[in-house]
Amino acid sequence: MSERIAFIGGGNMASAIIGGLISQGHAPGQIDVVEPFAETRDKLKASYGVNAQAEAGPFLAEADLVIWAVKPQTFRLAALQARPYVQKALQLSVAAGIRSDSIVNWLGTQRVVRAMPNTPALIGKGISGLFARPAVTAQDRQAVVQVMASTGELLWLDAEEKLDTVTALSGSGPAYAFYFMEAMTTAGAEMGLTRDQAQQLAVATFIGAGELVRSSGETPKVLRQRVTSKGGTTDAAICSMEDADLQAEFINALYAARRRAQELGDEFGKA
Ligand SMILES: NC(=O)c1ccc[n+]([C@@H]2O[C@H](COP(=O)([O-])OP(=O)(O)OC[C@H]3O[C@@H](n4cnc5c(N)ncnc54)[C@H](OP(=O)(O)O)[C@@H]3O)[C@@H](O)[C@H]2O)c1
Repeated sequence: MSERIAFIGGGNMASAIIGGLISQGHAPGQIDVVEPFAETRDKLKASYGVNAQAEAGPFLAEADLVIWAVKPQTFRLAALQARPYVQKALQLSVAAGIRSDSIVNWLGTQRVVRAMPNTPALIGKGISGLFARPAVTAQDRQAVVQVMASTGELLWLDAEEKLDTVTALSGSGPAYAFYFMEAMTTAGAEMGLTRDQAQQLAVATFIGAGELVRSSGETPKVLRQRVTSKGGTTDAAICSMEDADLQAEFINALYAARRRAQELGDEFGKA
């Protein structure tokens, strides 16, 4: 485990990772957070006992690992402020879209790992795509795995552009699941259930279906076909969706998300 860890940005994602580190036994005194918003700093100090500062400074030079958890649009400015102090450390960025080439330019070090998490990371049930630049050592990767493990599953990728696809699938993916749950809740309420009842049924169905895929080892397609008998109720629903070409539309939507991830990288990654 990296001995001293610094976070740039102390928001949701940083808090999730800090919570995981503390529960693994990492000493709070070995964690520094740079967070401009006083209320957030006070909350971090009170909840975890970590050190929190309003701006970057020489204390950052002691960090073995620097975790970038700022919004993509503030990354460049935050990086230029921290640059004089962080060049010896391994850099781990969870910022959506910002390419490692930009991070290398802004910080002047090649030891950069990018992670693309999703919101269930906040409760330890996320999945993150990870990409390491060639200068990152096996030991560096191990340090990243230890830090990120408490956020959920990890998947290493061999090419950085694949992170844009990860963004389209799992990064934005929780919203797709919420969107379908919303539709199921609305339908259930229209058909006579209370909204609470309909939502309970929709949420439990998503959780159960996901766990069934995982534990059965079957593909989602096989499991769908198994519960779709010709002329039955599921068949009626699936036929209605196929008539509307819903699967093709859904695939188009993921391409749109990936295009947007690529655009954000161009937009916020400029020197
Ligand atoms: N939340 C998720 O599940 C999730 C999933 C995938 C990827 N991500 C990525 O993770 C990154 C962080 O997301 P988040 O949800 O944790 O955002 P967040 O809660 O808004 O946290 C960002 C924090 O950085 C602080 N900050 C702003 N400028 C700074 C500076 N110059 N130096 C240091 N800190 C600065 C912000 O402070 P102020 O509030 O004062 O501006 C804020 O507390 C984003 O790039 C996001 O795309 C998040």
